[in-house]
Amino acid sequence: MKKERKDGSRPQGMMAEIEIRDVWKEFVMKDGKLSALEGISIGVQKGEFLCIVGPSGCGKSTLLSIIAGLTRPEKGSVRVGGREVSEPGPDRVVMFQESALFPWLTAIQNIEFGLKMKGVEEKERRRVALKYLNLVNLERFENSYIHELSGGMKQRVALARALAMEPEVLLMDEPFAALDAQSRDQFHIELQQIWMKTGQTIIFVTHNVSEAVCLGDRVVLFTYRPGRVKKEFRVVYPRPRESRGVPKLAAITSRILGELRVEFERYMAEALHDGRN
Ligand SMILES: Nc1ncnc2c1ncn2[C@@H]1O[C@H](COP(=O)(O)OP(=O)(O)O)[C@@H](O)[C@H]1O
Ligand SMILES: [Mg+2]
Repeated sequence: MKKERKDGSRPQGMMAEIEIRDVWKEFVMKDGKLSALEGISIGVQKGEFLCIVGPSGCGKSTLLSIIAGLTRPEKGSVRVGGREVSEPGPDRVVMFQESALFPWLTAIQNIEFGLKMKGVEEKERRRVALKYLNLVNLERFENSYIHELSGGMKQRVALARALAMEPEVLLMDEPFAALDAQSRDQFHIELQQIWMKTGQTIIFVTHNVSEAVCLGDRVVLFTYRPGRVKKEFRVVYPRPRESRGVPKLAAITSRILGELRVEFERYMAEALHDGRN
């Protein structure tokens, strides 16, 4: 655990923990090249909760994968904690929408797994795993097998597993997209509470604008395709925030949705034009 913050605000005036500089990525397809990301530059402060929103296919997962060191960009660079990213490392952990948990292990064993890989000895890894199991409110399910847990509980295990690695940076790729609305709302509150305790730097990508506004200190909006940074919005509001029924957050959400609609209409116009040729 790194730091407790009372109001959930972002620490000010600190150096950028993550420097994404002019990142370009394209994929070679059968019928030519597909440009996924064009000139992405974003700085993320230490301890900041940054959300990236944009429609499906705008390159959100590609960018996370580049930051994680799983994909190389054609051009540009990513630095985390001053070091250039060239491969995956324990300072960056990714949590996905569908988390690959081991069904033959219990909840606690799944959380311990990464620690074991890191060479943490048995007693210590049990202690750390229990701490994070508690943090995600799953202490009663320590010895349950994965198939005995609901979708929401599985994501709790996945979150605890990611947190237990105590990475500098947590990369979250639509982690709650497969959950029902009620579980998602609950997660929004809990993730904020956890983040206020751990002080991690989080990049959270989603296509759900109100989710991004509920969670982020800042929301970066990507264009449709190729992904470019279109605009960013700062969200100043005390935490933990509710994802619904807060007029100020609803107003920011509707501004972002307005921008997104413009992008979508542009894309539709292009698609119709291509169809005629
Ligand atoms: N490995 C890949 N090979 C070819 N095309 C890819 C690959 N990964 C992603 N793409 C394409 O790049 C674009 C961006 O994808 P992605 O980053 O998954 O978007 P998002 O996460 O925003 O939905 C999409 O058009 C997708 O089809
Ligand atoms: Mg994606």
